[in-house]
Amino acid sequence: MAQKTFYITTALYYSNDNLHIGHAYEAVATDAMARYKRARGYDVKMLTGMDEHGQKIEQTSEAKDKSPQEYVDHIADLVKELMGTLDIDYDIFWRTTVDAHKVAVKKIFKKLYDQGDIYKDAYEGLYCVPCETFYTQHQISNGKCPVCEREVQPVKEETYFFRLSKYQDALIKHIEDNPNFIQPKSRQNEMLNNFLRPGLEDLCVSRTSFKWGIPVEFDPEHVTYVWVDALSNYAVALGYMGDDDTEYQKYWPADVHIVGKDIVRFHTIIWPALLMALGQPLPKQVFGHGWLNIDGKKMGKSLGNAVDPNMLVERYGVDAVRYFLLREVVFGQDGNFTNEALMGRINADLANDLGNLLSRTVGMIDKYFSGKLPAAQAETEFDTSLCEVAATAVQKAEDAYDNMQFSDALNEIWNFVRRANKYIDEVMPWVLFKEGGQKERLAGSLYMLAESLRIIAVLIEPVMPNTPRYVYEQLNMSDDNMKTWGSTKEFGLLGREIVISKGDIVFPRIDLKKELEGLAIE
Ligand code: MSP
Repeated sequence: MAQKTFYITTALYYSNDNLHIGHAYEAVATDAMARYKRARGYDVKMLTGMDEHGQKIEQTSEAKDKSPQEYVDHIADLVKELMGTLDIDYDIFWRTTVDAHKVAVKKIFKKLYDQGDIYKDAYEGLYCVPCETFYTQHQISNGKCPVCEREVQPVKEETYFFRLSKYQDALIKHIEDNPNFIQPKSRQNEMLNNFLRPGLEDLCVSRTSFKWGIPVEFDPEHVTYVWVDALSNYAVALGYMGDDDTEYQKYWPADVHIVGKDIVRFHTIIWPALLMALGQPLPKQVFGHGWLNIDGKKMGKSLGNAVDPNMLVERYGVDAVRYFLLREVVFGQDGNFTNEALMGRINADLANDLGNLLSRTVGMIDKYFSGKLPAAQAETEFDTSLCEVAATAVQKAEDAYDNMQFSDALNEIWNFVRRANKYIDEVMPWVLFKEGGQKERLAGSLYMLAESLRIIAVLIEPVMPNTPRYVYEQLNMSDDNMKTWGSTKEFGLLGREIVISKGDIVFPRIDLKKELEGLAIE
């Protein structure tokens, strides 16, 4: 049977030097899902990249005395570095300034024009430069952008329009017929009630007031207005409208576009309408995640409260940061970042629960058996319950991952971690050791813990790609068959004789007071 494909994307990030923990959050969630699907045997393509055109970039690069291309090249390098730091295992890093993209977007524009879906008209309205969005008078109050609250500018120019209104009924029908198309469900209602049912206006898709964009081939005074340029990336990156569309044939339609709630509208109205006009299949799902706020407020460089993911990874390690982001925030809802919450999770869940389970298990094998656990079959009365909790955790984590409910998945896994720690308190290996004559039982119980750790390591890999390695190393696990997703369903796969390699503490406890003082100085 052919391997099933799974195509997943992040939004393309605006080219600026303001990528903060909110952007990192989206990339980490997308990467976790991609890793999970790889573990489940899918042929996965994950795309991320940069949205590099528009008036704002033209203005910023000018202010920095750089050409727009130099500016976006520099930012793309920084973002790639950040993706590396966060261990984002993407397959495609797409940039809207590469030739293949520009050529394909020109073709898309021409095709839509030739078939009458794009037409030229005069546009009069209000424009927000930072958000790159046009507004009608009734969307604006006090001359301010409804999203970023900065001044909007009146514009009047000849532009091309896309006949978005023509697709209104087909879009409503598609959304109603495919309840999974927009997730979570609340966003589906928002799109239907606030945008689609009140009626769609045709969309302005070109500009003449700036140059930094993809020129309209048959009318080069115009550059393609940024959403048509940016959204096309998901298909163009696979070869749609290119010389070789093998990958497009293989991976399209996308299984899921992961985007923030602010751009769900563009992905569930404009993008599907464009695809309908082009006669292409629609993505199977658009998942609109919530915003990561800071101390309850919106985060941003201009607001002076943007948290730098590089700094967090340097201080706490990439797995801790990834764990926190996906554990703390319910995927789909808004979440709050605070240093206290991050450190609280590191100390409680990682140092206390998981870190301790590993160091206690390895430490006891070292202490009671000089590092070599003999094969033993003796069982304790607590084993059945531990095995049951393991099986439940595997099943529930799987269901939660399938629905991108990362915090639920981690919660289930941690129930298992905590149950394993409780098992130590129940069995009391130190008493068995002291009593003598209990070697079988002692070795058997330590095996139960080692085996639990093996399963836990596999289950956390999508979220924490490095931690499993430390577990495998300390338990000297070299057989890859023990590290597959399928192997988690069988308790007892690990060989009974274990020679441990004691390692460093994986998650050291943080001294909260000292650390908060240190952060205040930074
Ligand atoms: N360039 C457009 C997307 C084009 S997609 C074809 C854009 N870029 S962005 O850089 O502003 O945002 C990129 C993604 O990051 C979006 O999905 C956005 O919602 C997300 N986030 C930006 N700030 C965020 C938080 N504070 N929290 C969570 N996600 C955030 O929009």
